[in-house]
Amino acid sequence: MKFEADLLNYLRRGPLVTVLTGAGISAESGVPTFRDAIQGVWHNVSPLELATPQAFQSDPKRVWDWYAYRRELVKQVEPNAGHKALVELAKIVQLTLITQNVDGLHQLAGSHDVIELHGNIRWCRCSETGERFEQWDDTETPPRNPRSGAYLRPDVVWFDERLPANALNAAYDAAKNCEIFLSIGTSSQVYPAADLPKIALAAGATVIEINKSETPLSRKVHHCWRGSASEILSALVAAISSTG
Ligand code: OAD
Repeated sequence: MKFEADLLNYLRRGPLVTVLTGAGISAESGVPTFRDAIQGVWHNVSPLELATPQAFQSDPKRVWDWYAYRRELVKQVEPNAGHKALVELAKIVQLTLITQNVDGLHQLAGSHDVIELHGNIRWCRCSETGERFEQWDDTETPPRNPRSGAYLRPDVVWFDERLPANALNAAYDAAKNCEIFLSIGTSSQVYPAADLPKIALAAGATVIEINKSETPLSRKVHHCWRGSASEILSALVAAISSTG
């Protein structure tokens, strides 16, 4: 992949860069996306049926078990070269990392202060008080909050739910204030995350999309880099570091 020399020089000066990632960056680690066919007992189940507050209310055990299955999948995979390249990029530019992924792989790779728009599947929270837990006693499914007695639920955003306000506000600020915005491995169809590159564009940032396929964002951005996120990000970091 050949990058423009002006852009590489600009990046070498350490500008404010905001990155938004989606399921595409974790695909190469083997994390099945919502839209991928899932094997085994869950192969006939649509996430649309299960990732809702209504589903949890009517059948909490089924929803808990489905997330437990996904959590185990996520625990078996490793960050890939794309996640790691972003850790390296953060040593060169002033980087804010926003993710729609709930797998925690950016943090495992070594990224700090990741803004998680859709929560994190490795955690759960009390369905009444919102108190967060990284560990719980799951002799009963779903487990209960020992303090409130209410069910624990996965700490992720379900359809029809609001995004965590702190994360969303931090993401809006990072989109408004950056000089370069990278939209990586996201279909740019799910809002409000899909607004972020548009906010950056309106504020005058250079917006770059890294994706294997075209998305609704592609026609609006300054550069579209087509291909694998891990390959392109590794090549970008190598190019910035090479003659700087
Ligand atoms: P999608 O599954 O909608 O899109 C994944 C994108 O990654 C697609 O545009 C693919 O072309 C691209 N892609 C796949 N493999 C790639 C690779 N190796 N390198 C580069 N690009 C690749 O995932 P998201 O956009 O993240 O929300 O989906 C957004 C939200 O929809 C998710 O966070 C989830 C779901 O509903 C919630 O859970 C609230």
